[in-house]
Amino acid sequence: MYTRVVPEQCIACGLCQLKAPEIFGYDEDGIAYVKLDNNQGTKEIPLPLLASFKAAYTACPTGAILRNDQPFPKDNKNSD
Ligand code: F3S
Repeated sequence: MYTRVVPEQCIACGLCQLKAPEIFGYDEDGIAYVKLDNNQGTKEIPLPLLASFKAAYTACPTGAILRNDQPFPKDNKNSD
């Protein structure tokens, strides 16, 4: 399982980090991102963290957390 956050959809509610602090962090504006791979969605969520990931995924009120069985395509916005 792979995940990333759509920053435009995050309202900084804080639930994802409450549920899965190992996976989600916040930038200086309180917008969530995936700590595992700097929100690229390219690093598989470690098995022991899957339960907390699913709790965060279902808790997010805006659907800002995406998940996928495959790595997400590279985000060109952040590449140099
Ligand atoms: Fe944002 Fe959803 Fe987390 S709104 S802070 S991604 S639970």
